Amino acid sequence: MPAIAPSILSADFGRLADEVRAAAAAGADWLHVDVMDGHFVPPITVGPAVVEALRRATTLPLDVHLMIQHPERHVSEFVRAGATGVTVHVEAETDVPATLAAIRAAGARPGLALNPPTPLEQVRPFMKLIDLLLVMSVNPGWGGQVFVEGSLEKLAAARRLRSETGTRFLIEVDGGIKPHNASLAAEAGADVLVAGSAVFESHDYAAAIRALRGGAR
Ligand code: DX5
Ligand code: ZN
Repeated sequence: MPAIAPSILSADFGRLADEVRAAAAAGADWLHVDVMDGHFVPPITVGPAVVEALRRATTLPLDVHLMIQHPERHVSEFVRAGATGVTVHVEAETDVPATLAAIRAAGARPGLALNPPTPLEQVRPFMKLIDLLLVMSVNPGWGGQVFVEGSLEKLAAARRLRSETGTRFLIEVDGGIKPHNASLAAEAGADVLVAGSAVFESHDYAAAIRALRGGAR
């Protein structure tokens, strides 16, 4: 059964602590925090101060997804704020292995993300350095987009790559996850499903999370 990581991007930011507690009570496993800088992607969202506030509001692992052009400038600050894991993009303008090492040295789990058009081969050199591989199933920037179909094959390929290389990272999928494709994504290879709108735009977070788990539990 996959772990479910609701993305606060679709939550009510005016009541963030309540939203997070409601997601935890509804059975969320992790909380996904989408950080955007207006450069790597057009929108700007939140920074370390919000991660710190979330850290006070919940004991859930905080899965911080940095959609930012220069993650090396900010990773240690996000870890200090309470991030459990910090994921950076392979497409960012950064020294990827050095940034992953900085995340681990700061005391968090390093993750690496890739966008739908980016071939999986591009992350192969970093497999041994990561605890999480984030397969984007939409182009990053906004919640509520439609799942890019080729993502299922990419998840399957990621799982093959993991066993070929004898590595142990978790595979996470992010973007357009709804009850109708959640079990397909999990069967294809995803250990963790990120879901923003499917959870926070529903009226019953517990029912939404159950549906994403495939009705089980
Ligand atoms: C997109 C973000 C996602 C997004 C997912 O740039 O990385 O985490 O919030 O939202 P949904 O589940 O609504 O596609
Ligand atoms: Zn995300």
